[in-house]
Amino acid sequence: MSFLLRVIVAFCVLVGACPTPSPIFRAASKSPVHAKHGMVASAEKRASQIGIDMLKKGGNAVDAAVAVGFALAVTHPTAGNLGGGGFMMIRFAGGETVCIDYRETAPAAAGREVYVDSSGQVVPKASTEGYRASGVPGTPAGLCLAQKKYGRLSLKEVMQPAIDLAEKGFPVSEHLSESLRKAADLLGLFPESRRVYLNEGKYFEPGEWLLQKDLASSLRAVRDQGAEAFYRGLVARRIASVYAEHGGWITQQDLASYEPRFRTPLRGSYRGYEVITMPPPSSGGTVLLEMLNGLEGYDLSSMGAGSSRTIHLVTEVMRRAFRDRAELMGDTDFVKVPVSQLISKSYALEIRKQIDPDKASVSLSLPARVLPAPEATETTHFSVVDKDGNAVANTYTLNGGYGAGVTLEGTGILMNNEMDDFTSKPGVPNAYGLIQGEANAIVPGKRPLSAMTPTFLTREGKLFLVIGSPGGPTIMNTVLQVILNLVDFGFTIQEAIDAPRFHHQWLPDELRLEQPGFSEDVTKALEARGHRLVFRSFMGDAEGILVEPKTGALLGASDPRGDGLTVGY
Ligand code: DON
Repeated sequence: MSFLLRVIVAFCVLVGACPTPSPIFRAASKSPVHAKHGMVASAEKRASQIGIDMLKKGGNAVDAAVAVGFALAVTHPTAGNLGGGGFMMIRFAGGETVCIDYRETAPAAAGREVYVDSSGQVVPKASTEGYRASGVPGTPAGLCLAQKKYGRLSLKEVMQPAIDLAEKGFPVSEHLSESLRKAADLLGLFPESRRVYLNEGKYFEPGEWLLQKDLASSLRAVRDQGAEAFYRGLVARRIASVYAEHGGWITQQDLASYEPRFRTPLRGSYRGYEVITMPPPSSGGTVLLEMLNGLEGYDLSSMGAGSSRTIHLVTEVMRRAFRDRAELMGDTDFVKVPVSQLISKSYALEIRKQIDPDKASVSLSLPARVLPAPEATETTHFSVVDKDGNAVANTYTLNGGYGAGVTLEGTGILMNNEMDDFTSKPGVPNAYGLIQGEANAIVPGKRPLSAMTPTFLTREGKLFLVIGSPGGPTIMNTVLQVILNLVDFGFTIQEAIDAPRFHHQWLPDELRLEQPGFSEDVTKALEARGHRLVFRSFMGDAEGILVEPKTGALLGASDPRGDGLTVGY
């Protein structure tokens, strides 16, 4: 904790203005990274440095973000990608915010029952492994669109560092070595993945070099011809021919029909901050705002971070927002979702009326939802802020670590398993244990419902926070808890990210607590209220940048749960 913060906390404690911070929640954090001009927080150090290099040579936050996005496709193959999709939120210094949806779409050959066998059972792993688990990738389209429309540098300049890393290789870190080894069961199923990522079964020891020559050639094609190369050109032809050879679904037609979309960001407020976040086809922003609205009615600050009262109330709000997600949400290009009602303050009032401060609800017998009348009208996240105050919050993914496990021969492209984010069958949990509904059924061209939650907070029109995380459904709760830790509990950005996390997603009806992190007093008090506790290791890998309101200084933090690095200048 910085000296200044210690003084503030000591003062607050003395005058009783804020609760004594829980030592468990605050003890071990280092100071945030501090910079004046620009900052990049990402899950991998080379990618962060490449982003900073772009800023230093005159690029803006979008140039840096696109460079980081391409670099992570090389250096962070578990989630960085060409073969996946995601969401980029851009907030310009003048206050305008745009949102690029480059989420994957279901191929034309997919449909509602494709993962269900003749006896009505969901076929295990069908939507998570192999050539039929992938949606049509959106990443090259999304990154190239952002760069072309908003970047200052050339596509060549922002892509070259990634191409060099793929072509010439880089030494594998301890973290990557371990991550690849852990994914060996999946990657070993597919010869090309085994060759490239498992070193033909010999694995990569830390310090050995990972070369991705085919990936370099795909990146070069995109560098020279833009996204066109990936969707209609040489790369498209290669992708389609590998799929055809292996009985997969993605065709040249699917690729040619793919389009990234501009979406209107969702806006809400929390205790005087404006929250600007991701609309459908991610559920992330809707669920986040629903939870923040619900929690605004409680004095969390005096209940204290990590106290059983706080965790209980936050859990009850999570439970309800996740039920709404499961039952009501899907791609709004295909289904109607009552987003404005779900994120309204009057709905939050209804939610609070249902919550008993002393007793856990039972997920399967929650009272009926009372929506107000409609009003008018393995993933990775990185955050970037440039010297002019432009900011990017980008979360993109292959879904599971290393996606479907498939590397397409001749392209070096590791493909997503995003089809598992659709509802394979209503009522049957997906890989994250999420029960999903009709609104998220598979339809060709539709985007699977996501939990990714790239988010900005502003205060009086000024950028305050850029935040996001991986972690499947835990993403929304990670972003929520970072915000609560900052706004309600006065943590630094590093402390807010470090603090132990908890997660409830309606079903299964269990409260997951990171272990270690919660004291026995707290867990006993939660059990006494009726919560079923399960202990889990880490949730999420948040990457955040905060703009210090008084000085404008940038304070950044990477999550200690991952191997990321925040770099500033
Ligand atoms: O879009 C989603 O919600 C999921 N595909 C995200 C997956 C994820 O975060 C995995 N990372 N750890």
